[in-house]
Amino acid sequence: MSRRSLSLVLLVLAVCGALYQWRERLIVRAPMLAIVFDHQDHYTVKCASCHHNFFDKTGQDSCYFCHKNRPELALHAQADFHALCRDCHARIAQQGFASGPVRRCGACHDWTHAAVGAAGTR
Ligand code: HEC
Ligand code: HEC
Ligand code: HEC
Ligand code: HEC
Repeated sequence: MSRRSLSLVLLVLAVCGALYQWRERLIVRAPMLAIVFDHQDHYTVKCASCHHNFFDKTGQDSCYFCHKNRPELALHAQADFHALCRDCHARIAQQGFASGPVRRCGACHDWTHAAVGAAGTR
């Protein structure tokens, strides 16, 4: 590899690294999106399926607060919560039963609700 293409590769890697760190910081700093969640829609689901913290001693707090305020959790909060909430809705819908939203982002992320996270439990 010529010296020139080597320095080009190094430059690209440096830019990617900087963008990645920048994305991390943005995710951790941004307020969490508002979420619609009603326990009454979920009375058939065992508490433990969602409230792992009641049992595994990760701590006493609201889900979003804890998941947002620990940077290592905030980075994959979107993936974790979509896997929990959306995947269950998708499984149930596939079986032909009434389920919550899967693709309608606005049905869960309703801007008319207050943002969750640092501001409160919603
Ligand atoms: C079944 C409910 C549900 C649906 C449908 C849903 N989401 Fe989410 N989403 C959540 C939950 C819960 C969280 C984690 C809490 C939060 O970030 O506010 C989350 C987190 C996120 C985050 C990360 C926010 C952060 O603070 O890090 C983004 C971005 C996002 N969703 C985008 C979308 C988009 C785009 C769609 C539609 C394609 C969508 N969501 C559909 C429930 C849902
Ligand atoms: C499908 C997931 C799910 C199930 C099942 C569930 N919860 Fe929750 N619960 C949540 C979410 C998400 C929040 C935070 C959002 C909010 O406050 O609106 C929450 C909040 C709470 C809170 C407020 C304090 C806190 O820890 O955030 C209590 C208390 C609670 N749930 C008790 C229960 C009990 C008891 C059961 C079983 C009968 C139960 N939940 C079942 C998802 C669930
Ligand atoms: C006090 C902190 C805390 C609270 C409160 C909390 N979590 Fe967590 N959660 C964690 C930690 C830490 C992990 C990572 C655990 C691990 O990797 O074993 C985690 C992991 C998860 C995961 C990913 C699990 C997997 O499959 O790997 C989901 C989904 C999740 N939590 C949802 C919730 C929901 C929903 C609530 C509220 C009902 C909640 N958490 C409350 C700290 C918390
Ligand atoms: C284990 C399965 C399961 C999990 C996990 C789950 N849900 Fe649901 N959800 C349901 C079912 C089933 C319904 C439909 C209840 C009905 O219509 O009778 C529903 C309904 C909903 C609705 C729609 C209520 C309406 O008025 O149509 C919303 C919004 C919702 N869920 C959000 C969430 C969010 C946010 C999470 C994650 C924090 C979550 N759900 C986790 C099963 C689940």
